[in-house]
Amino acid sequence: MDAAAVPSGLADPGTDRGGGLLGRPIDRVDGLSKVTGGAPYAFERAPKGAAVAAIVGAPVGAGRVVAIDVAAAAALPGVLAVIVDDPRMPAGQASSGALPQQGTDRIFHYGQPVAIVVAESQQVANEAAALVRVEVTPATGRFDPRGEPVIDEPRIGFLPPVEMGDVDAAMADAAVTVDATYTTPVHFPAALEPHATTAWWDGDRLTLRSSNQVIGAARKTVARALGIEAERVRVLAPYVGGGFGGKTGVGAEAILAAIAAERVGRPVKVALPRRQVAYMTHHRSDTVQRIRLGTDTDGRLRAIAHESVVAQNDQGRFLEPVPFGTLPLYAGEARRFTTGLVRVDLPETGAVRAPGEAVGTFAVECGMDELAERLGINPLELRRINEPPVDPTTGKRFSTRRMIDCYDEGARRFGWPERVPDPGSVREGEWLIGIGMAAALRGNFTVEAQARVVLDEGGRARVECDMTDIGTGTYTILAQVAGEMLGLGLDRVDVVIGDTDLPPTAGSGGSFGANSSASAVVLACEDIRAELARRMNAAPEELAFENGCVRAGGRETPLADLVRGEPIVGRGHTKPGKETEATSQASHGAQFCEVAVNAVTGEVRVRRMLGVFDIGRVLNAKTARSQAIGGMAWGLAYALHEDGVVDVRDGRFVNPDFAEYHVATNADVPQLEAWFVEQVDASANPAGAKGVGELGISGAGAAVVNAIYNATGVRVRDMPVTLDKLL
Ligand code: MOS
Repeated sequence: MDAAAVPSGLADPGTDRGGGLLGRPIDRVDGLSKVTGGAPYAFERAPKGAAVAAIVGAPVGAGRVVAIDVAAAAALPGVLAVIVDDPRMPAGQASSGALPQQGTDRIFHYGQPVAIVVAESQQVANEAAALVRVEVTPATGRFDPRGEPVIDEPRIGFLPPVEMGDVDAAMADAAVTVDATYTTPVHFPAALEPHATTAWWDGDRLTLRSSNQVIGAARKTVARALGIEAERVRVLAPYVGGGFGGKTGVGAEAILAAIAAERVGRPVKVALPRRQVAYMTHHRSDTVQRIRLGTDTDGRLRAIAHESVVAQNDQGRFLEPVPFGTLPLYAGEARRFTTGLVRVDLPETGAVRAPGEAVGTFAVECGMDELAERLGINPLELRRINEPPVDPTTGKRFSTRRMIDCYDEGARRFGWPERVPDPGSVREGEWLIGIGMAAALRGNFTVEAQARVVLDEGGRARVECDMTDIGTGTYTILAQVAGEMLGLGLDRVDVVIGDTDLPPTAGSGGSFGANSSASAVVLACEDIRAELARRMNAAPEELAFENGCVRAGGRETPLADLVRGEPIVGRGHTKPGKETEATSQASHGAQFCEVAVNAVTGEVRVRRMLGVFDIGRVLNAKTARSQAIGGMAWGLAYALHEDGVVDVRDGRFVNPDFAEYHVATNADVPQLEAWFVEQVDASANPAGAKGVGELGISGAGAAVVNAIYNATGVRVRDMPVTLDKLL
């Protein structure tokens, strides 16, 4: 369906929230089972007789495997198999849709799987893995992500370079300019639940219970890796303990678990130890970003350039789309956006927590702050001045864009002043106080998704699709959508997801999961409503649904009475239509932050963060808020803590664990406020909802860094802002 009209079953939140379910801040329907241990994750409740595997990684960053001595490992009591010779073992990286390089002795990166040890217990598997001796011929590798970019590389990734007008000339003519380079380090996805899979075979049919965000694609990747038809593979992911992009592809452990289960003829489960997660799945690339901004004396942008360099290995097909969020952000005739590539012999780089915008907004939004200071304009006003009427890069009209409202509402709620205090001028004892703000923008992706809704004789509805709930609230919002459309309380709606036997969606990723799967459920419920209308000899728009009953022309009938015998099956299938193609779509927001920086030690404490966000329809005010403040906390972590260090001598990560790779924890996170400017985006999809999760990250870190500058007068352009850089 072309998504120009909002379905009749969905009330406009502005006029009528009434007794409806949608949008209400309802607790997670799966909350109780999660906190009481009832929800099965990938590594839990394996089928009877499951064995456990440990994976041995390559001991060097480049070279060849000469021999693997498994004698000592195999001799250990409790070891079932030590597998080194299976040509289907992923040799390169298995974490993307791309087929891993297989059946080779080449070492593509440090830690790449070279052997699987299967044993009766984890302890024995680990001990045996440590006894496997891998003999290698090392080679010189390219381990520095800040090495020379390659020229004339065939384009990979999805973001082609943009060149409009003459940026150099516009910069030369501009009254006020900023030309600054910002850097961000490697980021690990850092999901609390490590990558884990339980695999078992029934004859030639493989089932994987895997911690994965996008199981439909995972099924195909696994099938290709194993050389079998996708129909023989079933992937289950009923509960996922965080994804953050790292589980959009297939972790190597999933394929290795399948191989191991086949070899020992038993179910096998594998959970990657934290340090192996870094090597057997992807991370976000290090980035170097040059920002050039040039304005008239009044602050109107004439030139805007965001040129970036990122790293990828020889197998990876993904390039961190650094300038993606900058494309529609500000006006300016001369425009240049590029993504350069450094080839490295490191684990694959991939999508991590708002690929593109999370790091791109550091550069452009700190650059705007520097520009505002040079112009002597309030940074909020500078952004208002440069709000574009249409997408300045594509020329398309915006679907819905409430950026100005986010600025205004945010400024009001935060108490953003007309005149920002001079840097370093506000002091409380030994603490320097500063405020900062930034725009937030995250491209909205509307993707294809299907769903089935089954209305049974008891008047209960069951929603089915292969979506995942990665902690985002999918179970709850899909139940709310169906409940709203069919007039059923949540106690009469079941949601079954996380199973590739169910209608396909694009899963959870890119902040498209909620809006796309909710849209498919909307359409499936419309299908049911149309059938009920036929049964009642009424037009669908005449029907009203409430309290498990349907009303038409003064008659009120319980849904159950209309079902008789066979359940009514509604099918929904949403895909981007003409209206989607014709518009430029994004979620928007404004981020505000207050920090205190200790003048003696350089310690930074974030005192408060406040964001106002334009996300289209709010499906559940509580889970949406949780997404937003979670994103803001990640932005804080990028600004202050997260710093993946590559040892450029040997291609190892220096800190691939939570002891030394620091994410924000409770003590770092202040009270966060998130507010929504709600407007249904009918151009986006039938649900009228836009992406939420990654929007909250966007701009949040830049607001922190800008506040640190305002507090101290020290402009740090090399993220994260650790205290050594402030002193
Ligand atoms: Mo996202 S980083 O595409 O899960």
